[in-house]
Amino acid sequence: MSTLLKFERVNAFYGAAHILHDMSLEIAAGERVALIGRNGVGKTTCVNTLLGVASLRGGSIAIGGSGLKKPRPYVAAGLGVAVVPQGRGIVANLSVEENLILGTAAGRKGHWTVPRIYELFPILRERAHTPGTALSGGQQQMLAIGRALMSNPALVILDEPTEGLAPVIVDQLATIFNQVADLGTALLLIEQNLSLVERVAHRYYAMAKGAVIGQGPVNAAVMHELKEHVVA
Ligand SMILES: Nc1ncnc2c1ncn2[C@@H]1O[C@H](COP(=O)(O)OP(=O)(O)OP(=O)(O)O)[C@@H](O)[C@H]1O
Ligand SMILES: [Mg+2]
Repeated sequence: MSTLLKFERVNAFYGAAHILHDMSLEIAAGERVALIGRNGVGKTTCVNTLLGVASLRGGSIAIGGSGLKKPRPYVAAGLGVAVVPQGRGIVANLSVEENLILGTAAGRKGHWTVPRIYELFPILRERAHTPGTALSGGQQQMLAIGRALMSNPALVILDEPTEGLAPVIVDQLATIFNQVADLGTALLLIEQNLSLVERVAHRYYAMAKGAVIGQGPVNAAVMHELKEHVVA
């Protein structure tokens, strides 16, 4: 299997604050991987380093085998890595459909089109012309996922997609994540909800203090252990 995303001993900073310390991870085509860890360990900073928001000052990041000289959001998107950001990032002045179309800026063609996103999330079709930020939290999350898929990515990174959502919505999203992965898209699911991780991911990385402290296959026993020591 070819490697889609590789972090090799990444050191990343916000100004003088050194957040990621030799952070390494690897995701192959079609894989379903979880990144877990308590608040503030540096999960989002991994995403921010890939996007060039946090600065990469040691180690390397490669997408599909090509090293990123200068990480930028459009570079990642163009190479097939889409991000569903923590907090969702819905643009307030744009309608649901306009928010979806933003996802096409990467210029990648493929399975995902506006009608196919509406098949996946029928509620978005009903609300196509309302402002994106008028949706409920769960619907905004669906919109953020739809927008990411519109770039026809090889890998979708989901940063705590179920934070603050009702269990019934979390269940719906778990089904959606599995449907998307079944179509061959790799997932990096950043989560603290380990029962969701168990339903979606096949492999995990656990982080503490800006580095990986454990990794392996996902199963009920391992998730139980991690719940005690890594997340809670
Ligand atoms: N823009 C920023 N400038 C300076 N420090 C930051 C910035 N963003 C995050 N940090 C710090 O970097 C560290 C890692 O934060 P990060 O957001 O990556 O954690 P996280 O694992 O995503 O946490 P959470 O689960 O709460 O989202 C924290 O100590 C945080 O305070
Ligand atoms: Mg975060």
